[in-house]
Parts: sequence; structure tokens; C-alpha cells
Amino acid sequence: MDFGRVVALSDLTLQVGPGVTGLVGANGAGKSTLIKILLGLQAPTSGRATVLGHDVAQDSALVRRVVGYMPEHDCLPPDVSASDFVVHLARMSGLPVAVARERAADILRIVGLDEERYRLLGTYSTGMKQRAKLAQALVHDPELVFLDEPTNGLDPASRMDMLRLVRRIGTDFKIPVLVTSHLLGELEKVSDHVVILDAGTLLRSSATSQFLDVSGALLVEVLGGVAERDLLGQELAAAGLPCRPHHRTVRVDPPPKGVDVHRVVRDVVADHGLGLVRIEPDHGHLEDVFTEGVPHV
Ligand SMILES: Nc1ncnc2c1ncn2[C@@H]1O[C@H](COP(=O)(O)OP(=O)(O)O)[C@@H](O)[C@H]1O
Ligand SMILES: [Mg+2]
Repeated sequence: MDFGRVVALSDLTLQVGPGVTGLVGANGAGKSTLIKILLGLQAPTSGRATVLGHDVAQDSALVRRVVGYMPEHDCLPPDVSASDFVVHLARMSGLPVAVARERAADILRIVGLDEERYRLLGTYSTGMKQRAKLAQALVHDPELVFLDEPTNGLDPASRMDMLRLVRRIGTDFKIPVLVTSHLLGELEKVSDHVVILDAGTLLRSSATSQFLDVSGALLVEVLGGVAERDLLGQELAAAGLPCRPHHRTVRVDPPPKGVDVHRVVRDVVADHGLGLVRIEPDHGHLEDVFTEGVPHV
């Protein structure tokens, strides 16, 4: 996708399966552009996309009927109640009025807007608006949903609530979800699969368990501060272990075969009078993909 000077997405090939897929990347990475292309709202400069087996360029109306979309920016009419708004959208997608009312009431209850559903959307807080946007994306029982930054503008508690809802859509309702966030670590707990975009290119796409897998690396922490951590790192590196600083710990990458990491760590700690706090497998975090420290070696 080429916006004149800005190439928002280039040579991107990816597949989204069942469950929750987290699309992660810094602001401007191309997440919203990708979703708009997948909905047929924006035409790619080149390439093609298929959603649920439909080519989005040829069948964009059909794709939008079977896909639920929660846009990033506010799209709610201020002088309509949440109930009327969601019923209206349900009717637009072809549901008879009684069914539309029932579905709207159900979905508004699920997203936690039961009591406020007759209030005008213009009076809603950001958190309530996000819930209303989510409700409209789900009311027609879509086969797939795209949620663009659903936690934007939320405080930590509402953020957790929203993430739990996202997870439920994928697990309880069994609707595959593609959800974006510019907060790099935010989606690792709710996503089965993670796609990382960086400046329009695919940095990585894999099962979340692979990011968070025991990579064979170990985290070693000693008493004290940065000085002790770095002394440990330098000495472990001098002893032949590939390692780098990682928050309060030194992360030891999988060593050459035959090296007993635990013994090397024990020896280094003892030789330098360091106090060992812990040594444990590194389960990793998504943010690490972006922010790996510079190796000690
Ligand atoms: N309509 C547009 N015209 C020109 N540039 C755009 C347009 N939409 C997005 N961009 C640019 O494309 C890049 C990707 O944007 P976007 O997909 O919104 O990123 P994200 O959603 O990951 O924050 C950014 O550099 C943005 O400024
Ligand atoms: Mg965006």
C-alpha cells in the first residue's frame, strides 16, 4: 500500500487462523491500513487479499457483511442511544426488527452496557464508547471480527475488561478475531497468534506460545543494581556464555552444546561475591522482539 510518499505496507503476506490474532506494531506501522485493505475500504496499490475465501477487491460488500469491524476512531452519532444505534446497524445487516432488538440487547449486556443502553452516545465516557463500538461490530453475528485498537483511551482496569471481552469473543463465541494494539506487550495474554508489523513490513508472525516459549534461554538475577548485573553479564560473557542485559537480569542465550550453564553461573557468582537471587527459564515477552538489549559480548 503506497500513499504517495509513504509506503504504509510493503510485500506483506500473512494468514489469520481461528482464535485471537494480535496485530502489533508502533503507531504508523500500518495496522489500520491493513485492516482497511482487508475490508475493501482501501484498495492496495498492488497485491491481493482474501478474507474467508472472498477476494476483497471483488467481493467487498460481501466481506463487510460477514466481518464485524470496530474502527479505531470514534464513529458514533452523539444524539442516538446505544440501543437505537446497535439495533439500527443490526437491521442494516438484514435482521428483522424483533431479532435485531433482541440481539442488540444481548450484545449490549455482554459488553457491559446493560444499564446505560438508553443513554445518548454523546454522553458516554471513552470506555463506554469503546464498548458500544464493540457491540456494533458483533451484533450481526459475524464470522470474523477486526478490532482496531479497542483499548485506546482506556484506563488500566477498563483495558483489562476490554481484553477479557476480546478473549471471550475468540474462545466462548468462537469468532476468529484480528485485534490491533500499538502497546507492544498488551496482546500477548489474549492472542493465540501474534503478527508484528514494523514500518509496513512483517517483522514476525507466529503462535504466541512460540514467542513466549522456553527458548532455551535463562534469566539470571543477582543482588544489587545495574553495576552488579553488568559485572555478572561481563563475567558470564568472558566465561563463554552469550548473554545480554534484560531488565534486572542477565539473559543467557542457549549456550554452545556441552556447556553447563548452571555451573558457570554458580562459579562466576561465587568468584565475584555476587548474591544469586534466581536463575530460571526465560519465557519471554512480546516487547523483547522490539527492545532486545545490546549483547554483553
Ligand atoms: N490516507 C492516508 N494518506 C497518507 N498517508 C496515510 C494515510 N493513511 C495512513 N497513512 C500513513 O501510513 C502509515 C501507516 O498508517 P496506519 O495504517 O494508520 O498505521 P497504524 O494503524 O499502525 O498506526 C503511516 O505512516 C500513516 O501516516
Ligand atoms: Mg491505527
